[in-house]
Amino acid sequence: MKRILTYGTFDTFHWAHMSLLQRAKSLGDWLAVGLSTDEFNKLKGKKSYFSYEQRKEILSGVKHVDFIFPEDNWQQKRADIIKYKIDVFVMGDDWAGKFDDLSDLCKVVYLPRTPNISSTVIKQIMKDFER
Ligand code: CTP
Repeated sequence: MKRILTYGTFDTFHWAHMSLLQRAKSLGDWLAVGLSTDEFNKLKGKKSYFSYEQRKEILSGVKHVDFIFPEDNWQQKRADIIKYKIDVFVMGDDWAGKFDDLSDLCKVVYLPRTPNISSTVIKQIMKDFER
């Protein structure tokens, strides 16, 4: 069984998230997602619209996702790859080159981002709509 791992916040779940997860899963048989916690997002200077528990609930309804665990720091990736016996580490190509150092543990793949959509854009539209 080929095991895939990706990370993200997946706030205001949208098509680009679904596409990324679908393409990630197609690289193997089992997909784990390290879901950024609210505390970790704060550390990154991000604030999600939906809480960790809400984002986890939404993500757990996605058929491509087999396992979700918290991402709460920058350093955990190596330990996660070993713990979950990961074969392929996948990120969107906004991170291209940033995780090449993990390639001694598993294959590292950057998938093309879907253009013109992001949680940031959706949150901006929601804000404008409220006005
Ligand atoms: N992603 C993608 N295409 C997009 C937006 C996101 O492929 N247009 C991918 C990211 O590369 C990442 C995953 O979806 O691998 C989760 O991304 P995340 O940062 O949670 O979503 P964004 O919508 O990019 O959020 P933000 O605007 O807060 O950066």
